[in-house]
Amino acid sequence: MATFSWITAGESHGPGVLAVLEGVPKGLALNVQDIDAALARRQRGYGRGKRMQIESDRVSILSGLKQGQTLGSPLTLLVKNNDERIDQYRTLTRPRPGHADFAGALKYGTRDCADVMERASARETAARVAAGAVAAQVLRAVGIEVLALVDSIGPVALDVPRLPLSALRALVLASEIGAGDAAREAEVVRAIDAARNAHDTLGGTFVVRATGCMAGLGSPMQWRERLDGRLAQALLCIQGIKAVEIGAGFAAATLRGSQCHDPIVRDESGALSRTSNNAGGIEGGMSNGMDLVLRAAMKPIPSLPSGLPSVDLLTGAPAIGVYERSDVCSVPAASVVGEAMVALTLLEALAERVTCATMAELIFEVNSMRSKHLGFLALQNPVFGD
Ligand SMILES: Cc1cc2nc3c(=O)[nH]c(=O)nc-3n(C[C@H](O)[C@H](O)[C@H](O)COP(=O)(O)O)c2cc1C
Repeated sequence: MATFSWITAGESHGPGVLAVLEGVPKGLALNVQDIDAALARRQRGYGRGKRMQIESDRVSILSGLKQGQTLGSPLTLLVKNNDERIDQYRTLTRPRPGHADFAGALKYGTRDCADVMERASARETAARVAAGAVAAQVLRAVGIEVLALVDSIGPVALDVPRLPLSALRALVLASEIGAGDAAREAEVVRAIDAARNAHDTLGGTFVVRATGCMAGLGSPMQWRERLDGRLAQALLCIQGIKAVEIGAGFAAATLRGSQCHDPIVRDESGALSRTSNNAGGIEGGMSNGMDLVLRAAMKPIPSLPSGLPSVDLLTGAPAIGVYERSDVCSVPAASVVGEAMVALTLLEALAERVTCATMAELIFEVNSMRSKHLGFLALQNPVFGD
């Protein structure tokens, strides 16, 4: 796995959305049900709209697989669109504030914003989630787990229980809103219902945690190699995400240095460890061996049933932005996309660190890196440059 990279293709109302992943090692027994489960999780979530009732996402593997095992060749994933009507789709000349419509119409020189919407739409995130579910399987094989959960919707703040990731995952999967705070779920449902009844929409925030991430992913050597920057971009490039925090995030700006930075100590066993994790597992653009903790904020859905002030691009007359059937709140779905994006970004960073062609080689290399790190932390082999 010299490098891992991926792209998506496809339009919202075309035949489907695709992801092509390059650099998945040979010999991964791909669990297709896991990918479908991730797709189903993206479709669920209280507050989603009619489009999700039309779609029932399932992945088809078009390349890179033989008898259920990856071949090391490009892996192509297809998620078909049931709502396929790109050539018959209505003209969209009243751009919706908060969408790509207006900027895209200017950029691509069209008065039909549907041309822009087809690709800018969050339907594309189905492909990211499918790709992320593959990345998560590779990471899981080397002991790295990623989980996202919702921690606020509109005005309702939710608790993120301090539980092992597996226990947290069980709560999140059982939750209607992708959260770990069952006690406040009814309040969130009421807030979403109230927004729907008022013909309005809601945003919110979600947390992404990764455990088992070894130190040294990312690099301080060039700005674009820094893991913090890459993870921030991975979350910010999700449709509707407007802010990202790492560790203490914005709150760090209010702390004194003595309160903020995570002390390095020797624990009971004499090994080096940290007593807090305000850094969110990243220092100097590299993972530091602690859990990665990220948080993202999503703006409210810009498609409002009552519409927002706009202009008809054909006539120049004031108009109400066109309304497309829409979610009231997509934060639970966006959190699933966030989990996928973090998994994909961590796999990219891991592939830079470890060169291998097969899963067996990957596991061997990661285990050997982990034992070197353990020796270092136990002050047994402080130098392992070779
Ligand atoms: C999973 C997901 C589902 C979304 N569903 C909708 C939707 O149903 N209606 C809508 O107007 N926006 C929806 N959005 C948000 C828009 O895609 C987003 O606000 C728009 O692309 C502009 O965001 P940007 O300015 O960050 O690009 C969704 C976003 C995500 C991540």
